[in-house]
Amino acid sequence: MTTRRLEPGPIVVASHNPGKVREIEELLAPFGLAPVSAASLGLAEPEETGATFRANAELKARASAEAAGLPALADDSGLAVEALDGAPGIHSARWAGRPHDFAAAMARVERELQRAGATRGDDRRARFVCALAVAWPKGACVTFEGTVEGRILWPPRGDHGFGYDPIFVPDGYDRTFAEMEPAAKQEISHRARAFKALVEACLR
Ligand code: IMP
Repeated sequence: MTTRRLEPGPIVVASHNPGKVREIEELLAPFGLAPVSAASLGLAEPEETGATFRANAELKARASAEAAGLPALADDSGLAVEALDGAPGIHSARWAGRPHDFAAAMARVERELQRAGATRGDDRRARFVCALAVAWPKGACVTFEGTVEGRILWPPRGDHGFGYDPIFVPDGYDRTFAEMEPAAKQEISHRARAFKALVEACLR
């Protein structure tokens, strides 16, 4: 793996998910990097054909870096529920359909947990996983992963965040990610942890 430094200047945020783009922009702000969204450059969203978070993050970062001629940062992430053998996992966005309906996706998680008999505490363990890939136009690419452990709560609670945040309670807390202030989620989230590793490798 060739690790390279990210110099101050523009970087493409290779995501069309406004919730993720907002969180990534907040993480990048202190480092003199000027995020440019893939949507504002009119870049197409590549098909996520990888079998892992890491593979999908890499293919998105590489496609944007090549198309824009700039370094690009991509996030592939999702919710992995233990009693569902890691589902929805890399299919987390797909469970919400098109256009995204996360109320329906969260209801499906709960329905499948009930079907699996996972009604209490430890039966309902889950984690969010995030792979962050940085790619440069000439082909170098590095990837960092972060996770946060917790459990699934029903019914959903809270209005902050996005996606599955209203049903995820991180370990050590009694509030869902959607009930926390955004800054509190950013302290412990899978994305923030992956970003910390990226900072150590590419920004220090
Ligand atoms: P993708 O990485 O674009 O394939 O989509 C990841 C999906 O995982 C998102 O659309 C959300 O549904 C879910 N997800 C990833 N990170 C978070 C998070 O921080 N909170 C809630 N849901 C998330």
